[in-house]
Amino acid sequence: MPAKKKKTSKAKATTKVKKSTTKKSTSKKTGESKVEEINEDELLEELISDDDEILEKKTKKNSSKPKTEANNKIKKSEIDEELEEEILDAAMDGLSEINYDIKDLPGVGATIAKKLTDAGFGTVNAIAITPAKILIEEGGLGEKTAQKIISAAREALNIGFKTADIVWERRKSLARITTNSKSLDELLGGSGVETGGITEFYGEYRTGKTQIMHQLCVDVQMSRDDGGINGKALYIDTEGTFRPERLIQMAEAKGLDYKEVLKNVIYARAYSSDHQIMLIKDAMKIIAEKNIKLIIVDSLISHFRAEYIGRGTLANRQQLLNLHIHDLLRLAEMYPDVAVVVTNQVQSKPDVFFGDPTKSAGGNVVAHGATVRIYLRKGKGDQRVAKMIDSPNLAEGEAVFRLAEEGILDIE
Ligand SMILES: Nc1ncnc2c1ncn2[C@@H]1O[C@H](COP(=O)(O)OP(=O)(O)O)[C@@H](O)[C@H]1O
Ligand SMILES: [Mg+2]
Repeated sequence: MPAKKKKTSKAKATTKVKKSTTKKSTSKKTGESKVEEINEDELLEELISDDDEILEKKTKKNSSKPKTEANNKIKKSEIDEELEEEILDAAMDGLSEINYDIKDLPGVGATIAKKLTDAGFGTVNAIAITPAKILIEEGGLGEKTAQKIISAAREALNIGFKTADIVWERRKSLARITTNSKSLDELLGGSGVETGGITEFYGEYRTGKTQIMHQLCVDVQMSRDDGGINGKALYIDTEGTFRPERLIQMAEAKGLDYKEVLKNVIYARAYSSDHQIMLIKDAMKIIAEKNIKLIIVDSLISHFRAEYIGRGTLANRQQLLNLHIHDLLRLAEMYPDVAVVVTNQVQSKPDVFFGDPTKSAGGNVVAHGATVRIYLRKGKGDQRVAKMIDSPNLAEGEAVFRLAEEGILDIE
């Protein structure tokens, strides 16, 4: 799935990094002259006008703004950091080798995992490329189990060609969770957030991200007829903004027994980026057992941002973030009936950096990971505007909704 926009080849990315680095250091030597400003600007434009769709959009937005006015507001350190992030993103595009834990595969419990590891098939990669016959003989598995585990491993790694009708079968099996607002549901493709992928809601402070997460926790529990999928929610809270009170209000507004609703939301506070990564790995183990159909990470990168400060740490941060997002993607791939929904901040304050204010934090590492991306901004009073930024199959558009005590509502 992440391959949808990975057009940049590794070789190309590497060339780009080299080229940019040289340019950057040249411009540094020339000091604060006008020429340097133009060079940096050109360089950024060049990086931005990558064949990547998102960056193309950004370029269009930027070019409509008067550059001189914007340039006055740029702080040099900020350019450097943003620039480095872009460069790293390009390099990171080539990164696809990820080590999966075989215990994440459906059907692999501790016993089978041990058998496989002892026989030398301790990685998902190994299982995916080993003929069933060998796994049966050397790993001591039954034929059915071996076939099942191999298919799961191949699926997790996205191996093999499929005909479009098979892909269509999977798409048809995906379900949706209502956001409680018709207009927001429509923006999302008809009836809300889709399972089997990652949906990212991003925007500034108080734009309703956390409110939408709470609403989804209630709605996922509803029957299919009422816009839910009869499942539980798992809420990973990195900012300490989860409020059961809000769940109670939203549940009561729908005439639900709030005690039941609260019991169906499994909550974990993540205290650091490491902890957050670990919680998602743990989540994979309880999804099926606990009937979890919605996984929320609110917010995705705040810990990463807080912990990895300064330019020297950016590479590490992006790499870890990349792994974390791949964990989430794998989870969505392996469990097509589970929706993964994350929130994110905007990259920088629009008045400080001339970059697109609608660009989310984390750069392309996040952009490539999320299947559907929605940008939120404030409207009049309690109104909020959602804009579809990126979806493989949905039209771009906007929806207006309202934040109320009862939850996410349509405007009258
Ligand atoms: N009980 C409530 N009744 C009505 N509106 C609320 C209530 N609680 C929060 N809100 C609205 O939600 C906003 C905060 O949105 P939130 O989702 O927490 O923002 P963020 O995008 O930062 O996560 C508040 O500014 C307020 O407008
Ligand atoms: Mg929030």
